[in-house]
Amino acid sequence: MARTLALLNNKGGTGKTTTTLGLGAALARRRQRVLLIDLDSQRNLSAAFTLPEGYTGIGHALVDSLPLHEAMVKVDKQLWVLGSTPALVDYEYQLSHEPGREFILREALAPLQSEFDFILLDCAPSLGTLTVNALTAADGFIVPMQAENFAFLGLDRILETADKAKRRMNPKLELEGILFVKLNPRTTFSKAVVQSLAKDPRTAGRVFHTYIRQDIALMECSAFQKSVFEYAPSSNGAHDYADLARELLQRTGDQSGKHNLEEK
Ligand SMILES: Nc1ncnc2c1ncn2[C@@H]1O[C@H](COP(=O)(O)OP(=O)(O)OP(=O)(O)O)[C@@H](O)[C@H]1O
Ligand SMILES: [Mg+2]
Repeated sequence: MARTLALLNNKGGTGKTTTTLGLGAALARRRQRVLLIDLDSQRNLSAAFTLPEGYTGIGHALVDSLPLHEAMVKVDKQLWVLGSTPALVDYEYQLSHEPGREFILREALAPLQSEFDFILLDCAPSLGTLTVNALTAADGFIVPMQAENFAFLGLDRILETADKAKRRMNPKLELEGILFVKLNPRTTFSKAVVQSLAKDPRTAGRVFHTYIRQDIALMECSAFQKSVFEYAPSSNGAHDYADLARELLQRTGDQSGKHNLEEK
Protein backbone atom coordinates (compact mmCIF):
# COMPACT_ATOMS: atom_id res chain seq x y z
CA MET A 1 0.00 0.00 0.00
CA ALA A 2 1.26 3.44 -0.89
CA ARG A 3 1.69 6.05 1.80
CA THR A 4 -0.04 9.16 0.47
CA LEU A 5 1.21 12.49 1.80
CA ALA A 6 -0.15 15.95 0.99
CA LEU A 7 2.23 18.92 0.97
CA LEU A 8 0.02 21.60 2.38
CA ASN A 9 0.16 25.30 3.18
CA ASN A 10 -2.35 27.84 1.96
CA LYS A 11 0.32 30.50 2.16
CA GLY A 12 2.20 30.80 -1.13
CA GLY A 13 5.90 30.15 -1.58
CA THR A 14 6.55 28.14 1.59
CA GLY A 15 8.35 25.25 -0.13
CA LYS A 16 5.55 22.81 -1.00
CA THR A 17 6.70 22.20 -4.57
CA THR A 18 10.42 22.23 -3.74
CA THR A 19 9.75 19.68 -1.00
CA THR A 20 7.60 17.48 -3.24
CA LEU A 21 10.44 17.43 -5.77
CA GLY A 22 13.31 17.07 -3.28
CA LEU A 23 11.65 14.52 -1.03
CA GLY A 24 10.27 12.58 -4.00
CA ALA A 25 13.71 12.32 -5.62
CA ALA A 26 15.30 11.41 -2.29
CA LEU A 27 12.77 8.63 -1.66
CA ALA A 28 13.22 7.31 -5.21
CA ARG A 29 16.99 7.16 -4.58
CA ARG A 30 16.20 5.01 -1.56
CA ARG A 31 14.46 2.55 -3.89
CA GLN A 32 10.96 3.68 -3.08
CA ARG A 33 8.47 3.77 -5.94
CA VAL A 34 7.23 7.36 -5.92
CA LEU A 35 4.39 9.16 -7.69
CA LEU A 36 4.34 12.98 -7.62
CA ILE A 37 1.01 14.67 -8.33
CA ASP A 38 0.69 18.34 -9.24
CA LEU A 39 -2.58 19.70 -7.83
CA ASP A 40 -1.71 23.31 -8.65
CA SER A 41 -2.64 25.07 -11.89
CA GLN A 42 0.54 27.18 -11.53
CA ARG A 43 2.14 23.84 -12.52
CA ASN A 44 5.53 24.56 -10.96
CA LEU A 45 5.98 20.86 -10.22
CA SER A 46 5.06 19.85 -13.79
CA ALA A 47 7.46 22.45 -15.22
CA ALA A 48 10.33 20.63 -13.55
CA PHE A 49 9.83 17.77 -16.05
CA THR A 50 9.37 17.39 -19.77
CA LEU A 51 5.83 16.21 -20.30
CA PRO A 52 4.50 15.03 -23.66
CA GLU A 53 3.07 17.44 -26.24
CA GLY A 54 -0.67 17.92 -25.75
CA TYR A 55 -0.48 16.60 -22.21
CA THR A 56 -3.84 17.04 -20.44
CA GLY A 57 -2.85 15.99 -16.95
CA ILE A 58 -4.61 15.17 -13.73
CA GLY A 59 -7.53 17.61 -14.17
CA HIS A 60 -8.82 16.06 -17.36
CA ALA A 61 -8.39 12.56 -15.94
CA LEU A 62 -10.38 13.40 -12.79
CA VAL A 63 -13.21 15.19 -14.59
CA ASP A 64 -13.62 12.46 -17.20
CA SER A 65 -13.02 9.62 -14.70
CA LEU A 66 -10.14 8.29 -16.81
CA PRO A 67 -7.67 5.83 -15.26
CA LEU A 68 -4.82 7.91 -13.82
CA HIS A 69 -2.36 5.56 -15.54
CA GLU A 70 -3.15 7.31 -18.79
CA ALA A 71 -1.84 10.64 -17.49
CA MET A 72 1.16 9.26 -15.59
CA VAL A 73 4.64 9.89 -16.97
CA LYS A 74 7.74 7.98 -15.87
CA VAL A 75 10.45 10.60 -15.37
CA ASP A 76 13.21 8.61 -13.69
CA LYS A 77 14.00 5.24 -12.21
CA GLN A 78 11.38 4.75 -9.47
CA LEU A 79 9.76 8.16 -10.14
CA TRP A 80 6.49 8.99 -11.90
CA VAL A 81 4.64 12.29 -12.34
CA LEU A 82 1.01 13.16 -12.82
CA GLY A 83 1.22 16.73 -14.00
CA SER A 84 -1.24 19.57 -14.32
CA THR A 85 -2.04 22.21 -16.92
CA PRO A 86 -3.30 25.80 -16.54
CA ALA A 87 -6.79 24.40 -17.34
CA LEU A 88 -6.74 22.73 -13.92
CA VAL A 89 -8.55 25.84 -12.63
CA ASP A 90 -11.51 25.05 -14.92
CA TYR A 91 -11.39 21.36 -14.09
CA GLU A 92 -11.38 22.19 -10.37
CA TYR A 93 -14.49 24.33 -10.89
CA GLN A 94 -16.23 21.42 -12.62
CA LEU A 95 -15.19 18.98 -9.91
CA SER A 96 -16.52 21.32 -7.23
CA HIS A 97 -20.04 20.74 -8.61
CA GLU A 98 -19.89 16.96 -8.62
CA PRO A 99 -21.62 14.83 -6.01
CA GLY A 100 -19.10 13.52 -3.50
CA ARG A 101 -16.65 16.11 -4.75
CA GLU A 102 -14.24 15.64 -1.82
CA PHE A 103 -13.71 11.96 -2.66
CA ILE A 104 -12.85 12.15 -6.37
CA LEU A 105 -9.06 11.96 -5.99
CA ARG A 106 -9.24 9.21 -3.36
CA GLU A 107 -11.40 7.11 -5.67
CA ALA A 108 -9.05 7.70 -8.59
CA LEU A 109 -5.94 6.80 -6.57
CA ALA A 110 -7.36 3.54 -5.21
CA PRO A 111 -6.15 1.36 -8.13
CA LEU A 112 -2.61 2.79 -7.81
CA GLN A 113 -2.11 1.97 -4.14
CA SER A 114 -0.29 -1.30 -4.75
CA GLU A 115 2.01 0.17 -7.40
CA PHE A 116 3.75 2.82 -5.27
CA ASP A 117 5.42 3.19 -1.92
CA PHE A 118 4.77 6.93 -1.73
CA ILE A 119 2.32 9.26 -3.43
CA LEU A 120 3.15 12.94 -2.82
CA LEU A 121 0.44 15.51 -3.48
CA ASP A 122 1.73 19.02 -4.23
CA CYS A 123 -1.15 21.29 -3.23
CA ALA A 124 -1.87 24.80 -4.46
CA PRO A 125 -1.65 27.68 -1.97
CA SER A 126 -5.38 27.53 -1.23
CA LEU A 127 -7.80 25.38 0.71
CA GLY A 128 -10.03 24.82 -2.32
CA THR A 129 -11.67 21.69 -3.74
CA LEU A 130 -8.45 20.01 -4.88
CA THR A 131 -6.70 20.64 -1.57
CA VAL A 132 -9.67 19.18 0.30
CA ASN A 133 -9.49 16.22 -2.12
CA ALA A 134 -5.82 15.83 -1.17
CA LEU A 135 -6.73 15.79 2.54
CA THR A 136 -9.42 13.19 1.86
CA ALA A 137 -7.04 10.98 -0.11
CA ALA A 138 -3.97 11.31 2.13
CA ASP A 139 -2.72 9.30 5.08
CA GLY A 140 -0.85 12.33 6.34
CA PHE A 141 0.07 15.89 5.53
CA ILE A 142 3.35 17.77 5.71
CA VAL A 143 3.30 21.52 6.29
CA PRO A 144 6.40 23.24 4.92
CA MET A 145 6.73 26.64 6.56
CA GLN A 146 9.12 29.43 7.41
CA ALA A 147 9.85 30.52 10.96
CA GLU A 148 8.02 33.81 10.47
CA ASN A 149 5.68 35.92 12.48
CA PHE A 150 2.55 35.30 10.46
CA ALA A 151 3.18 31.62 9.78
CA PHE A 152 1.27 30.79 12.98
CA LEU A 153 -1.92 32.41 11.79
CA GLY A 154 -1.80 30.31 8.65
CA LEU A 155 -1.02 27.19 10.61
CA ASP A 156 -4.17 27.55 12.76
CA ARG A 157 -6.28 27.63 9.62
CA ILE A 158 -4.51 24.62 8.08
CA LEU A 159 -4.90 22.53 11.23
CA GLU A 160 -8.58 23.48 11.52
CA THR A 161 -9.24 22.50 7.91
CA ALA A 162 -7.34 19.24 8.31
CA ASP A 163 -9.27 18.52 11.48
CA LYS A 164 -12.58 18.95 9.66
CA ALA A 165 -11.37 16.73 6.81
CA LYS A 166 -10.37 14.08 9.37
CA ARG A 167 -13.69 14.24 11.26
CA ARG A 168 -15.95 14.36 8.24
CA MET A 169 -14.16 12.43 5.52
CA ASN A 170 -10.88 10.80 6.40
CA PRO A 171 -10.46 9.48 9.97
CA LYS A 172 -6.97 8.16 9.23
CA LEU A 173 -5.56 11.60 8.35
CA GLU A 174 -2.62 12.66 10.55
CA LEU A 175 -0.22 15.56 10.68
CA GLU A 176 2.91 13.83 9.40
CA GLY A 177 5.06 16.79 10.28
CA ILE A 178 5.85 20.48 10.17
CA LEU A 179 8.91 21.07 8.02
CA PHE A 180 10.95 24.24 8.40
CA VAL A 181 12.20 25.45 5.05
CA LYS A 182 14.83 28.18 4.55
CA LEU A 183 15.44 28.05 8.29
CA ASN A 184 18.36 29.71 10.00
CA PRO A 185 18.17 27.97 13.39
CA ARG A 186 20.59 30.39 15.00
CA THR A 187 18.34 33.44 15.06
CA THR A 188 16.52 34.12 18.31
CA PHE A 189 13.24 34.42 16.47
CA SER A 190 13.45 31.08 14.67
CA LYS A 191 14.44 29.38 17.92
CA ALA A 192 11.35 30.85 19.57
CA VAL A 193 9.12 29.64 16.73
CA VAL A 194 10.56 26.12 16.81
CA GLN A 195 10.20 25.94 20.60
CA SER A 196 6.67 27.21 20.56
CA LEU A 197 5.60 24.54 18.03
CA ALA A 198 7.37 21.91 20.09
CA LYS A 199 5.17 22.90 23.05
CA ASP A 200 1.89 23.36 21.19
CA PRO A 201 -0.18 20.21 21.85
CA ARG A 202 -1.38 20.16 18.24
CA THR A 203 2.15 20.00 16.84
CA ALA A 204 4.30 18.64 19.70
CA GLY A 205 6.37 15.71 18.49
CA ARG A 206 5.34 16.43 14.91
CA VAL A 207 8.06 18.87 13.89
CA PHE A 208 10.59 17.16 11.63
CA HIS A 209 14.06 17.07 13.18
CA THR A 210 15.35 17.69 9.69
CA TYR A 211 15.02 21.22 8.38
CA ILE A 212 15.83 22.56 4.95
CA ARG A 213 18.48 25.26 4.70
CA GLN A 214 18.33 28.16 2.29
CA ASP A 215 20.11 26.91 -0.83
CA ILE A 216 20.19 28.45 -4.29
CA ALA A 217 20.64 24.97 -5.83
CA LEU A 218 17.07 24.16 -4.81
CA MET A 219 15.85 27.17 -6.74
CA GLU A 220 18.00 26.50 -9.79
CA CYS A 221 17.69 22.75 -10.25
CA SER A 222 14.05 22.66 -11.35
CA ALA A 223 14.72 25.37 -13.97
CA PHE A 224 17.24 22.94 -15.46
CA GLN A 225 14.74 20.10 -15.10
CA LYS A 226 17.06 18.22 -12.82
CA SER A 227 16.62 16.93 -9.31
CA VAL A 228 18.83 18.60 -6.73
CA PHE A 229 20.73 15.29 -6.53
CA GLU A 230 21.63 15.43 -10.22
CA TYR A 231 22.16 19.19 -10.32
CA ALA A 232 24.23 19.68 -7.17
CA PRO A 233 24.79 16.37 -5.41
CA SER A 234 26.92 17.82 -2.64
CA SER A 235 24.75 20.87 -1.97
CA ASN A 236 23.04 21.58 1.35
CA GLY A 237 19.72 21.12 -0.44
CA ALA A 238 20.59 17.59 -1.60
CA HIS A 239 21.89 16.77 1.86
CA ASP A 240 18.81 18.10 3.65
CA TYR A 241 16.24 16.34 1.45
CA ALA A 242 18.20 13.09 1.74
CA ASP A 243 17.99 13.54 5.53
CA LEU A 244 14.27 14.23 5.33
CA ALA A 245 13.66 11.03 3.37
CA ARG A 246 15.72 9.11 5.89
CA GLU A 247 13.78 10.62 8.81
CA LEU A 248 10.46 9.86 7.16
CA LEU A 249 11.44 6.24 6.50
CA GLN A 250 12.85 5.80 10.00
CA ARG A 251 9.82 7.19 11.77
CA THR A 252 8.12 3.90 12.29
CA GLY A 253 11.17 2.59 14.15
CA ASP A 254 13.84 5.04 15.22
CA GLN A 255 12.26 8.46 15.73
CA SER A 256 15.42 10.51 15.31
CA GLY A 257 16.67 11.89 12.01
CA LYS A 258 20.43 11.88 11.63
CA HIS A 259 20.80 15.65 11.43
CA ASN A 260 18.52 17.56 13.68
CA LEU A 261 17.82 21.12 14.68
CA GLU A 262 20.73 21.22 17.13
CA GLU A 263 23.33 19.43 15.03
CA LYS A 264 23.49 21.36 11.76
N1 LIG B 1 15.45 25.87 0.82
C1 LIG B 1 15.34 26.77 -0.15
N2 LIG B 1 16.37 27.59 -0.44
C2 LIG B 1 16.25 28.53 -1.42
N3 LIG B 1 15.15 28.71 -2.16
C3 LIG B 1 14.10 27.92 -1.92
C4 LIG B 1 14.12 26.91 -0.91
N4 LIG B 1 12.93 26.28 -0.90
C5 LIG B 1 12.18 26.88 -1.86
N5 LIG B 1 12.88 27.86 -2.47
C6 LIG B 1 12.40 28.76 -3.51
O1 LIG B 1 11.33 29.52 -2.96
C7 LIG B 1 10.30 29.70 -3.92
C8 LIG B 1 9.01 29.11 -3.39
O2 LIG B 1 9.19 27.71 -3.21
P1 LIG B 1 8.10 26.67 -3.72
O3 LIG B 1 7.71 26.97 -5.12
O4 LIG B 1 8.61 25.33 -3.40
O5 LIG B 1 6.92 27.06 -2.74
P2 LIG B 1 5.38 26.63 -2.85
O6 LIG B 1 4.90 26.56 -1.44
O7 LIG B 1 5.23 25.45 -3.70
O8 LIG B 1 4.79 27.90 -3.59
P3 LIG B 1 3.27 28.05 -4.13
O9 LIG B 1 2.45 28.28 -2.92
O10 LIG B 1 3.33 29.23 -5.05
O11 LIG B 1 2.93 26.77 -4.82
C9 LIG B 1 10.78 29.03 -5.20
O12 LIG B 1 11.41 30.00 -6.01
C10 LIG B 1 11.82 28.03 -4.70
O13 LIG B 1 12.81 27.75 -5.67
MG1 LIG C 1 3.99 25.18 -5.36
